[in-house]
Amino acid sequence: MNDIRPIAGSSTALPALADPFGRQISYLRVSVTDRCDFRCVYCMSEHMTFLPKPDLLTLEELDRICTAFVSRGVEKLRITGGEPLVRRDIMTLFRSLSRHLDTGALKELTLTTNGSQLARFANELAGYGIKRINVSLDTLDPAKFKALTRWGDLSKVLAGIDAAQAAGIHVKINAVALKGDNENEIASLMEWAHGRGMDLSLIEVMPLGDVGSERVDQYLPLSLVRAQLAEKYTLEDIDFRTGGPARYVSVKETGGKLGFITPLTHNFCEGCNRVRLTCTGTLYMCLGQEDAADLRGPMRASATNELLYSAMEDAIARKPKGHDFVIDRRTKQPAVGRHMSLTGG
Ligand code: GTP
Ligand code: 5AD
Ligand code: SF4
Repeated sequence: MNDIRPIAGSSTALPALADPFGRQISYLRVSVTDRCDFRCVYCMSEHMTFLPKPDLLTLEELDRICTAFVSRGVEKLRITGGEPLVRRDIMTLFRSLSRHLDTGALKELTLTTNGSQLARFANELAGYGIKRINVSLDTLDPAKFKALTRWGDLSKVLAGIDAAQAAGIHVKINAVALKGDNENEIASLMEWAHGRGMDLSLIEVMPLGDVGSERVDQYLPLSLVRAQLAEKYTLEDIDFRTGGPARYVSVKETGGKLGFITPLTHNFCEGCNRVRLTCTGTLYMCLGQEDAADLRGPMRASATNELLYSAMEDAIARKPKGHDFVIDRRTKQPAVGRHMSLTGG
């Protein structure tokens, strides 16, 4: 399945990675830490055990694996967490990865963040070529925000968004649709985001990890949300794509775009172009499956990349067709035991 095509910015052509279903792997999501300064109720339990720090890849090792993927056809890198901006010296990684933007090998270097540290880092990120970021924000009500994130402070996130926009970075807001929690706030969240020139993507909650509450009590199908919004707004399906799983509509009344990420009501796996690397060098070929491959061992075993490339190829050859998430009263176990904070969505 591997098609040999020259990778921009490299002198020798290495085969681009493709899976047995013919899907090209052009997008790597990298979780640089499983830690976070929030404890969102749908993502983490109140008392989380985190990975021991010595198990973490160094920033140089993260750079090496990312670079290996770039030379095998990855064109989009998204840095995630946990919360990526709480990892010490993380700007060093952005700085070094930005060289692949300069060569043209990488089309996009970006991040998904909870926004809490953005005020501090926005300017520097813009300087490293970050043009577009996703900020997770589920509510604009300060008390509700506190309840949902357990530890978060809404004013800091809003200041972070201001700083990112002032630095010229396009911000997209990601909100998990939560029954009872932000269900009645989605229209106002959308009006606010669109009013500030930001798109909004809504996400269906996924059964990942034990969070100490019933998923079925959190789950709000986006088909329902869309139908409710359509009573008040004119939603028009559009072809706009970012390389992610969201399907977009334009909203006539606000002039903005609204994305729907629907792992439960509409499976989008047939177009999957991504794999996920954790901060310990484990590669997950699917967000919704347990199978994973160790890249740390092969990377550390040699100063050259042959073993690493071969481990990457073997892993991608095992990429499953897709996830099979279920949320109902009868299904008590999460689809996968690990929390979202390990793979960063
Ligand atoms: P854009 O580049 O802006 O489209 O971003 P993206 O949607 O790829 O990334 P983002 O971090 O905004 O992802 C939003 C959420 O979509 C993630 O946190 C996940 O919840 C979900 N998501 C992304 N990729 C996948 C996937 O392959 N499978 C599933 N089930 N969900 C995914
Ligand atoms: N289901 C859906 N989205 C989740 N996120 C975290 N946990 C879950 C879950 N179980 C979201 C965060 C953030 C992104 C990285 O993933 O809100 O937007
Ligand atoms: Fe942290 Fe994001 Fe998980 Fe919230 S959803 S606890 S901000 S990693």
